[in-house]
Parts: sequence; C-alpha cells; structure tokens
Amino acid sequence: MSRSVAIVGSGYMGGGIAQVLALAGADVALADASPHIARENYERLLREGADFVRDGLFPDDAVETLTRNLHAAESIEEAVANADFIEEAVPEIPDLKRSVLERISAAARPDALIGSNTSTISIGQLAVAVQNPERFLGVHFSNPAPFIPGVELIPHAGTAAASVQLAREIVAETGKQTATVKDVTGFVLNRLQYALFHEAAQVVEDGIASAEDVDTLVRTTFGFRLPFFGPFAIADMAGLDVYAFCYGTLQEEFPERFSTPPILQQMVDSGRLGTKSGGGFLDVPAERIPELVAYRNKAYVLMQRLIEDLGPAPLGENRSDA
Ligand SMILES: NC(=O)c1ccc[n+]([C@@H]2O[C@H](COP(=O)([O-])OP(=O)(O)OC[C@H]3O[C@@H](n4cnc5c(N)ncnc54)[C@H](O)[C@@H]3O)[C@@H](O)[C@H]2O)c1
Repeated sequence: MSRSVAIVGSGYMGGGIAQVLALAGADVALADASPHIARENYERLLREGADFVRDGLFPDDAVETLTRNLHAAESIEEAVANADFIEEAVPEIPDLKRSVLERISAAARPDALIGSNTSTISIGQLAVAVQNPERFLGVHFSNPAPFIPGVELIPHAGTAAASVQLAREIVAETGKQTATVKDVTGFVLNRLQYALFHEAAQVVEDGIASAEDVDTLVRTTFGFRLPFFGPFAIADMAGLDVYAFCYGTLQEEFPERFSTPPILQQMVDSGRLGTKSGGGFLDVPAERIPELVAYRNKAYVLMQRLIEDLGPAPLGENRSDA
C-alpha cells in the first residue's frame, strides 16, 4: 500500500499494528508520550522483527522493509500531520484516549481516517473528542497483532459509510480480514470471548471439571472447529432442530442462561434446519454439501497434523486423560 500512517501509542498493540502496516508497504510514523519512548519502541520493533525473521514468522526481507517504512516521530502532531490513516493505541483510560484523540484530530488533515484500538470503551464516547467525527471508528486489532488475522471495525452512530469502507480497504491491504459490528459494550469479539470464559469459570467454580480439563475439552472438541467455522456454520451443520432439542434440555436446568434463542426457534419453525434443508443461518445449496463435508474433513485432519507438528503448548505438564 502506498499510504501514510501514524500510530499513536507505540506499545505492545500499537507496535504490532505498526509492523503489520509497514510490512504491507505503508509509510508509518510512531508517536508516543515522548520522542524518547517512540525511539525506543522503534528500535524494539526492529529487534523483534529480526527475531520473527529468524523464526520464519516474517518474510526474509522484513527488517529491511521495517527499517525503510517505520520511523519514530518527535510528537503526536508531527506524526499525524500528513497521515492518511491514524490508529490510536494508548492505554485503556477513557480520559487519556479522549485527550490524545483531541490532539490527533486537531493536528491531522481534516479528511484523515482515525481509528481507535480500544477493547471496551464506547466509540461514541470517544468520538466526542474528535473533530470531524464522521472519519472516526474503532479499528480493533487482536493480540498478537502481527499474527492474528481478524480486525473488528466499530463505527459509532456518526461514522460515515465511506470511512468504514476506507478502513476495510486499509485492513484488507495488510492481508487481514474485517468484520463490522455495532458500538455496544464489549463489541462482539469480547462479548463472545467473555461469554465462554464466564461459563468455563462457573464449571470450575462448581467443581464440575478442572481448568486443565476444560481447556483440553475446548481445544480438542468444539474449539477445534473454530478456525474454519463460526458458531452459525457449526449450528447449521449440526442441524438447527438438534440445537433446539438440546436447548430444551439445557433450559430445564438453566432456564435463564440457556433459554432457546427466538431466532433459532423461528428458523426451526419455518423449516430451515441447516445444511440438511439447504440452509439455516447461512445458505448452503444442496449441491455444495459434498464439497463442504470434504473441506471440513480435510481441515480437521490438517489441523491435527499441525498440532502434532507443533507439539503441545508449553503449559503445565501437558497431561491429558488420553
Ligand atoms: N494488550 C492486548 O492484548 C490488547 C488487545 C486488543 C486491544 N488492546 C487495546 O490496545 C490499546 C493499547 O494497549 P497495549 O496493550 O498496547 O498497551 P501498552 O501499555 O503496551 O501501550 C500503550 C502505549 O501508549 C503510550 N502512551 C501513554 N500515554 C500516551 C500519550 N499521552 N500519548 C501518546 N502515547 C502514550 C505508552 O507509552 C505505550 O507505549 C488499549 O486500548 C488496549 O485496550 C490491547
């Protein structure tokens, strides 16, 4: 990409985002609380880049590309002055983010796109600090930014459609994928992640299974599918009528937490039962089902091989019941 980018807050996330954009060809200025910190982070990103090349995680010429495309700025104002896209990645403190966004939008070009990497703060509440807030939205990279391929885009009520489109294009140019969600507490990624954690914590608190066994089950059963299929594709493949039956049983014990979602019941009532009926939440034409099954089977076999190649994660004693 031939864009000019500024990253404000060049710490853990901002640094990773800067590497991603610089490797994609953008000219990236790093700004931080002081020029000294920006310079130190610049040097850290180059050292880290060399380690990633050594480990085969970055392309062979990554250090040259990073050296050419990254630079440390003297100030936020200098970094953003000529930027097409600015990503804010300062600590998760609302007042700090607002004051930094105020400085960014005062010094940036009026048409520059501004993103925030906030995990939890309402984008609408940050937008009040931004001049021309129609060019502002959440652009939420995940940790570790260089290696996680998805980015959550969160427009606030006043974000222009063209700004969302431009954010999609910029992220796509880095090879990552976007999903656009509404500006609600937790957005979508964290809402889902914490829903799973909440249930897992209850299982452990209630003495139903140990933390190790919960993690083993997640990794080796339904979590094993998740790199390929999200919850809707999985439900469609399982059969939505099957899901509705399971909810029937679960809600006897947990009527609040596991009441049948109305959207699921409506699908079942209208005869959309998932792949076996030509579609459910997602459309799967009958003639593509053999292709889907073949893809699924291949994906799981290759996934298992990858895990065996990598060996177990260095956690605890890597014990299992198997
Ligand atoms: N760490 C994660 O796993 C993760 C994941 C997703 C999103 N996020 C979000 O990303 C943002 C950054 O998190 P992080 O983990 O990179 O934090 P971090 O502490 O590693 O980095 C923050 C950087 O901001 C700089 N900074 C502080 N005050 C500043 C100022 N006034 N002006 C300019 N720079 C300033 C700090 O010096 C530091 O370099 C947060 O909003 C966080 O919620 C973090």
